[in-house]
Amino acid sequence: MKTMREDGFALASGALTDGFREALLAGLAQCPKKIPCKYLYDAIGARLFDEICTLPEYYLTRTENALLRSHAAEISALGGPDVEIMEFGAGSGDKIRILLNSLHRPRAYMPVDFSDTWLDRLAERLRMDYPALQVHPVIGDFTGRLRWPLAPGGRRLGFFPGSTIGNFTPLEARKFLSAAAAILDRGALLIGVDLAKDPAILHAAYNDRAGITAAFNLNLLSRANRDAGADFDPSRFFHYALYNPAEMRIEMYLISAIRQKANICGRSFAFSEGEAILTEYSYKYTVDSFQELAASAGLISRKFWCDPKGLFSLHWLESR
Ligand code: TRP
Repeated sequence: MKTMREDGFALASGALTDGFREALLAGLAQCPKKIPCKYLYDAIGARLFDEICTLPEYYLTRTENALLRSHAAEISALGGPDVEIMEFGAGSGDKIRILLNSLHRPRAYMPVDFSDTWLDRLAERLRMDYPALQVHPVIGDFTGRLRWPLAPGGRRLGFFPGSTIGNFTPLEARKFLSAAAAILDRGALLIGVDLAKDPAILHAAYNDRAGITAAFNLNLLSRANRDAGADFDPSRFFHYALYNPAEMRIEMYLISAIRQKANICGRSFAFSEGEAILTEYSYKYTVDSFQELAASAGLISRKFWCDPKGLFSLHWLESR
C-alpha cells in the first residue's frame, strides 16, 4: 500500500530527504555551525538509534517501556474504547505495541514520520498482528502542519514517547504542544519526558562505552557524503556530548579534530581545530516544569507516572 503524505499526495521513496542538502548548507554557514537533528535518522541512523535504546547506560527506553507496561490498566481506563492513535515519529514499533495491547479495541493507528520505507514496514507488520486495527501511515514532518487523516468522530489520542519533546527547544516544544492540542481536538496526549537528574547519569547515557552514540552522531557526516554530495572525512571528527545544568539540556556536538575543509556541492566550509557542529539538544524537565510548559500550550495534566528512581516521566495530558 502507498503511504500518503499529509497533504494527500503519495510520495516517491526518499523524496523527503531532499531538504537535507539545503539544511546542511544553511546550518554550516551559521556560527556556531549546526545540523538539524532530524537528519540523524536515515536507515543507518535509525538502526543505530535502536541499538542505543538497548544500551545499559541508556535508561530512557527501558524505563519508559516499564512505565507503559506497569500502568497499562490505568492508561486503558483513561483512553477508553475505540481510540484513534496518532504517533509523532514512528519508532521500531515496540512502544506502540505495548500501548495497543493495553488499550481497549483501539480503532486506528497513524504513525507520522518522514521516512516512508520505515513506515511501510512498520505498517505491514502491525496490520498482520492487529487485523482489526486501521493503520494509516502519514509521511511528513510532525513539526510541520498536520491533518487528521480520518473522518471526524472518534476519540483522539496522541502518542509522543522517547522524550523526543526534549529535542525541541522549550519554545519549539510549546509550539509543538499547541499544534498537537489543536489536532487532538479535545483528545489526550500521552507523552514521555526525561527528567533532570545527576549529571553523571545523563552524561553516561549520551556517552556510552560501546561508542554507539558516537557512531550515531558521526553517521550524520557519512550521510551527508551519501545523500548530499559532501566530502567529509568522518574519521577527522569526534563525538562530544555534555550536560549543561544551567540550561537543563544535553548538548551534542561533532568536533573537528584538525583544521580542515569540507565541500558540499561546490561550496567549501572551513573548520578550525576543535570547532564544533551542534547536532542535538536533549532538554530535561522536572515534573513541574514540564506540566507548566504543557499548560502554557493548553494541555492540562490529568495524570503522570514516574519510575521509583525518578529517572523518567510519562504524562497524560488533555486539552483544556
Ligand atoms: N530523544 C532521544 C533523546 O533525547 C534522542 C537521542 C538519544 C539521541 N540519544 C541520542 C539523539 C544521541 C542524538 C544522539 O534521548
